Amino acid sequence: MKAGVGLISSLLLFLLMGAVFAQRPRPKKPTRRPATTRKPFVPKRGEPAVPEPQEPTDFPPIILGPPSIFSDCPKECLCLPSYPNSLNCENRNIRVVPVIPFRTHYLYLQNNYISELTAEAFNNATEVRWINLANNRIQKIDKQVFEKIPGLLYFYVQRNQLNEVPSGLPTSLEQLRLDRNRISKIPAGAFTKLENLTLLDLHYNQLSDSDLGKNTLKDLKNLMQLNLAYNVLKKMPAGVPNNLIQLFLDKNRIDDIPKDYFKDFTHLAFVRLNHNQLSDKGVPKAVFNLTSLLDLQLAHNQLTVIPLFNNHLEHLHLNHNNIESKLCTFVLVVFTQNAMRAVFCFLPLERFLVCLHPDMHSSNARVHFN
Ligand SMILES: *[C@@H]1O[C@H](CO)[C@@H](O)[C@H](O)[C@H]1NC(C)=O
Ligand SMILES: *[C@@H]1O[C@H](CO)[C@@H](O)[C@H](O)[C@H]1NC(C)=O
Ligand SMILES: *[C@@H]1O[C@H](CO)[C@@H](O)[C@H](O)[C@H]1NC(C)=O
Repeated sequence: MKAGVGLISSLLLFLLMGAVFAQRPRPKKPTRRPATTRKPFVPKRGEPAVPEPQEPTDFPPIILGPPSIFSDCPKECLCLPSYPNSLNCENRNIRVVPVIPFRTHYLYLQNNYISELTAEAFNNATEVRWINLANNRIQKIDKQVFEKIPGLLYFYVQRNQLNEVPSGLPTSLEQLRLDRNRISKIPAGAFTKLENLTLLDLHYNQLSDSDLGKNTLKDLKNLMQLNLAYNVLKKMPAGVPNNLIQLFLDKNRIDDIPKDYFKDFTHLAFVRLNHNQLSDKGVPKAVFNLTSLLDLQLAHNQLTVIPLFNNHLEHLHLNHNNIESKLCTFVLVVFTQNAMRAVFCFLPLERFLVCLHPDMHSSNARVHFN
C-alpha cells in the first residue's frame, strides 16, 4: 500500500515537472540556491520607453493640433467638439503647460517634456477633475496649482522626476499615482485631510522607513490600494489605514512583520511581499490568518515553513523560498495557460500534498498537509 502511494506520487511529480518545464523557460542554473548567493539589492529605475533627447538642442518641435471650433483651444492641443470637457495635449512634445480653458474637466498632458507645473496655466481651470501628466520630466509642482483646482479627483504623475511628494494636494483627491519617480521624501502633512483618497501608488521610488512614520498615512481613511513596492523599506510601513484592500510591498528589504500588524484590517484581500527578506523568524505563526485574505504572495523570500493561513485564501505564492529543505521535498507553483495556479508541496515519506486550486470556489481552495 505504502509502495503504491509512493509510486503514484512519484509519477505525479514526474508528470508535473514535465508540464512545468514544458511551459516555462528552463533556468540556466537550476541548482543554484537563492538564499545564500543573494546579491546586494540595488533599486532599478524605470526605463523610459523612448530615448530621452539631450538638452538643449535636440528637443523635437511641438506638434500643433488641428484647427478647432473652440477659440480657447491651445494651439498645441486637440479640442474635440463632441468632448468639450476634454483637453487632449498628449504626445505633442510640449515643454510648457498651455493656458487651460475654463471648460476643461479632463486634462491629458502625458508623454511630453514638461518639467514644471506652475499656477499661471491653471488660473481659469477651476473645473479640472482629472490630470494625466505621466511620462514627462516634472521635477517641481507649485503648491498654488492645487489652490486653483479644488475639485481635482485623479492626479497621475507617474514616470517623472519628482524628488518628493507634492505639497498642498487638494482634499478632494481620490487617486494619486506617483510611481516611477525619484521620491525619497514625504513632506510633513502631505497626505493630511485626503479623506477620499482610495488609491496611492508610490512604487519604484526611493522611500525608506523614516518616510512612513505612524502619522504619515493616518488621515487616509478610505484608502483601498497602497503600492509601496520597489522602494527601500526595511520595516512594514507604520500607520497604514485599516480599510485597505490591497497592500503591495514587493521588492523591498523587509525582514520582519510585527505579530499584530494585520490585526485591525478587516477588508485586506491582496498582500504582496515577494522579493523581500522574510525568514520564519520574521513571520509570526498566525500573522496571515485573516479571513478576508484572498491572495498572498510571499515568493522569493527565505521561508522554510508554510505560514498558517485561513481557508478562504485562494492564491498562495511561495516559490523561491527554502521550504523544500524541511517540510517538503520541494514546492511547485504551476502556472497554466488559462492562468490556473496550483501549489504542490511534496512532503517526504509520501505524505502529500498541498494543492490549491484558486479558480475554483474558495470553499475548495483548501490546503491539505497529509
Ligand atoms: C476664464 O473663464 C471665463 C468663463 O468661461 C471666461 O469668461 C474668461 O474669459 C476666461 N479667462 C481667461 C483668461 O481665459
Ligand atoms: C468626499 O466625497 C464625498 C462623497 O462624494 C463628498 O461629499 C465630500 O465632499 C468629499 N470630501 C472632500 C474633502 O472633497
Ligand atoms: C485563525 O483564525 C481563525 C478564525 O478565522 C481562528 O479560529 C483560529 O484560531 C486562528 N488560528 C490561529 C492559530 O490563530
